[in-house]
Amino acid sequence: MSAGSRVAVVTGGAGGIGRAIAARLQRDGLRVALWDLDGDALAKAASALPGDAAIGVRVDVTDEASVQAALQTTLARFGALHVLVNGAGATGPVADVTDCSVDAWQRCIDVNLRSVFLCSRAAVRPMLDAGFGRVVNLASIAGKEGNPSMSAYSAAKAGVIAFTKSMGKELALTPVRVNCIAPAVIETPLLQQMTAQALAASLAKIPMRRAGTADEAANLVAWLASDACSFSSGATFDLSGGRATY
Ligand SMILES: NC(=O)c1ccc[n+]([C@@H]2O[C@H](COP(=O)([O-])OP(=O)(O)OC[C@H]3O[C@@H](n4cnc5c(N)ncnc54)[C@H](O)[C@@H]3O)[C@@H](O)[C@H]2O)c1
Repeated sequence: MSAGSRVAVVTGGAGGIGRAIAARLQRDGLRVALWDLDGDALAKAASALPGDAAIGVRVDVTDEASVQAALQTTLARFGALHVLVNGAGATGPVADVTDCSVDAWQRCIDVNLRSVFLCSRAAVRPMLDAGFGRVVNLASIAGKEGNPSMSAYSAAKAGVIAFTKSMGKELALTPVRVNCIAPAVIETPLLQQMTAQALAASLAKIPMRRAGTADEAANLVAWLASDACSFSSGATFDLSGGRATY
C-alpha cells in the first residue's frame, strides 16, 4: 500500500510537536486527522495544512466516549486508520511529592498515560482491518530518568514506555508496530509549563547543548510510522542530543 492511501491520527495535533508531525506525515502523502482539546489552536493548525487531506477533530483524549466519537468522525471522513501518534500530553504539577495534590497527580496520569491506552485501544482494530498499523507514542526522557519535582509526569511517561513494550509484544505477529520516542527538551510551548530552573537543569544535561526542534521529532516519528520500520516494535527511541540514556 502506498503512503498516499494511508490515514494518520495525531493526538495533541495542535501542539508544537504534533503540528510538525502532522505536516511531515502530510508531506509524506498521508491524510491526517489532528485530534486536540484546544478548539482554537486546532482550527489554526488544521487550516495551516494545505489541501483537503487534513481535518481537525476536537477531542478529550482522557475520555473514552470522546475518543470513540473522534474515531468515528475520522473513519467517516477518511474510511480507514493506519497510523496513530499519541502526542497529547502536559507537564502536570511541578511540586515535590509531599506537596503534590492528588487531583493534579491524577490529571497528569490521565492526560499522559490513560490517553495512550484509550486511543491505542480504539485504533488497533481499524489497523488490523486495514492490514497495516503503526502506533508511535511520545514518551520522554523523564520516563527513564525521573525528573525531580515532576513525579507524576515522570511516572506517566515511564508508564507509556512500559505500555509500548506490552503492546509491541501483543501485536508482534500482526502488521502493527508499536514504538515510542523519548525526547529530552524540544522547543515548543510545553516548555512554558516548566520552571526556569527545571528547564535550565534539563538543557544542561544535553551534550549537544541545545534543545531539539519539533521537526527533528517529526523526522523520527515519520520513520516509525512508515514501512521502513518493520523489525522494531515495543522499542523506545531516544531523541536527546547525545544523552544516550539506557
Ligand atoms: N516539548 C518537549 O520538550 C517534550 C519533551 C519530551 C516529551 N514531550 C512530549 O511530547 C508531546 C507533545 O508535546 P509538545 O511539546 O508538543 O506540547 P504542547 O503543549 O505544545 O502540545 C500538547 C498538546 O496536547 C493537547 N492536549 C492536552 N490535553 C489534551 C486532552 N485531554 N485531549 C486532547 N488534547 C490534549 C494540548 O491542547 C496541546 O495542543 C507530549 O506528550 C509531551 O509530553 C515533549
